[in-house]
Amino acid sequence: MLETKGIPTHFIDTSAPNEMRVCRVEILPLEVVVRNIAAGSLCKQTGIALGTIVNPPLVEFYYKNDDLGDPLLTRDRLLLMKLATGEQVDQLETAAREINEILKEFFSQCGITLVDFKLEFGTDKHQNLLLADEISPDTCRLWDNSETDPDARVMDKDRFRRDLGSVESAYQQVLKRVLAQKV
Ligand code: TMP
Repeated sequence: MLETKGIPTHFIDTSAPNEMRVCRVEILPLEVVVRNIAAGSLCKQTGIALGTIVNPPLVEFYYKNDDLGDPLLTRDRLLLMKLATGEQVDQLETAAREINEILKEFFSQCGITLVDFKLEFGTDKHQNLLLADEISPDTCRLWDNSETDPDARVMDKDRFRRDLGSVESAYQQVLKRVLAQKV
């Protein structure tokens, strides 16, 4: 769906229900997080209240490094560490914002609010920047628009992180709504 809307990705096709063929890329050691609504580490680190609308959406870069605890990076730190070029940082931010608009609209049609999500990117042998990895309830915060209760509305990995139960049925509900949506 993203490819048809002009976002270059590593996806080729699905060879089985639990497999996908992808173009080989060199993954940038960055997690690109986009936030539409305050939740998770944004609330924890800034004191901003859960559920606060983030407008314009926030695009953040985290360093994928378990030993360092995946720290939040500034643009200058990112350049200092040579994790990407300035041009790539601009491309990443632009792509992340475009993907956000597409996914926000798509999930909205599923009756789901896209709160925030994480993306990864890589470069192919021609140095093209491609969206890579996965987009799933493990990597997004998704809230059910038909629920007002703050715990009941959670359809993503926060059900597991916060021990809210019904993880599998929430994920199945996301899948059902996504598959029902024509793309
Ligand atoms: P955060 O609020 O914990 O920083 O997470 C922001 C978004 O990024 C949330 O949708 C979960 C996703 N995420 C991952 O997919 N992998 C990670 O390692 C982290 C820290 C967050």
